[in-house]
Amino acid sequence: MSAFSKRVEYMKPSAIRESGKMIGAKPGCISFAGGLPSPDLMPLDAMRDISARVLDEAGTNALQYGLTRGYKGLVEEIVKMLAKKDIVCEPKNIQVTTGSQQGIFLTAMLMIDEGDAIVVENPTYLGALTSFAPLGCRYVDVDADDDGMLLEQLEAKLQVEKNVKMVYVVPNFSNPTGKEWSLERRKGLLALAEKYDLMIIEDDPYGDIRYEGEVLPSMKSMDTNGRVIYLGSFSKVLYAGLRVGFTVAEESIVDTFELFKQGIDLQSNEFAQNQIACFLQNYDLDAQIQSIVDNYKEKRDLMLTILDEEFPKSVKRTSPKGGMFVWVELPEGVDTFALLPQCIAEANVGYVPGGPFYAVEEQKNTMRLNFSNVDKEAIVIGMKALAKFLHKVL
Ligand SMILES: Cc1ncc(COP(=O)(O)O)c(C=O)c1O
Repeated sequence: MSAFSKRVEYMKPSAIRESGKMIGAKPGCISFAGGLPSPDLMPLDAMRDISARVLDEAGTNALQYGLTRGYKGLVEEIVKMLAKKDIVCEPKNIQVTTGSQQGIFLTAMLMIDEGDAIVVENPTYLGALTSFAPLGCRYVDVDADDDGMLLEQLEAKLQVEKNVKMVYVVPNFSNPTGKEWSLERRKGLLALAEKYDLMIIEDDPYGDIRYEGEVLPSMKSMDTNGRVIYLGSFSKVLYAGLRVGFTVAEESIVDTFELFKQGIDLQSNEFAQNQIACFLQNYDLDAQIQSIVDNYKEKRDLMLTILDEEFPKSVKRTSPKGGMFVWVELPEGVDTFALLPQCIAEANVGYVPGGPFYAVEEQKNTMRLNFSNVDKEAIVIGMKALAKFLHKVL
């Protein structure tokens, strides 16, 4: 329609939604496609108590309009939580967001004019690409190995690219690959951001879900010049549906987020913010995270074991030390999107084709497998069926 903005043309349908529709249409299909946290690990009884308690204690204040910046009680809890991660900040550095997804959008609104470039990893979080798309940005895409983005390749590109404004990264157990950036790469990116005057968007919804290895410092905790905007979320450790996340940045940046947010949704859900604050004040978040880690670790181990023992040897995989995903690479020339309908029909298994996770050039021989939202029995049945299917088609 001619009245629509140019932004509409920049939008592409989400591959996850498309694959989800195909998988959902087959009753009983085992899906490794979604990116959902396990509903079994959401503290439901706690939420029953919390909801009553918030209504008893805050009354209609929890149901009234509130501050755009965020519910004060929650902001204070976020500051304390971040201090435990060595991120030193004050309430003035926090903007509560409607999920960290909104934080991604706000950072792009803050920095990107049409034609500006964003540095992203190959592959990267598809939801970020969807958020950036309407702004008409360009991408500087950089390959990654097991330690994170290849910084020599990034620097070579920065020397020739114009109007590069920011780098978007998920350094802890990324979606889609599950990879973790080494300390050296984190420091290296901070140095490059300084040298080329870039902002870093450090998106960290999975950092707490660690199965092994030492906790590595966030770039935000090492940021001495206000170059990092840190995005956090309660979706993966508590209640995704409440849509509560937050950004941490310099005050002047957060002030601008507040202005944009006034135009977007006025504020995040007041009741939900009260509920999360109540959980943080009265319940044990560490114990909650541990229950998630114990559960997902077993599922990850199961998925990786079957991948190693039963899949064709030409199939490569990542070794996620945390998070919810394994990234799989099939031999070159295979198109996982084209294979999906056949896989659903014959193996009764679904996955997310990996191509759309690439900002510039789709690598179509890849797929993302989720292990958080599938039970162990389904992992065994589904992974064995997928292995058999791949032996047949490769
Ligand atoms: C890397 C990454 N960032 C951000 C989000 C958005 O999370 P939320 O908006 O629920 O906090 C997700 C969700 O899957 C994600 O994987």
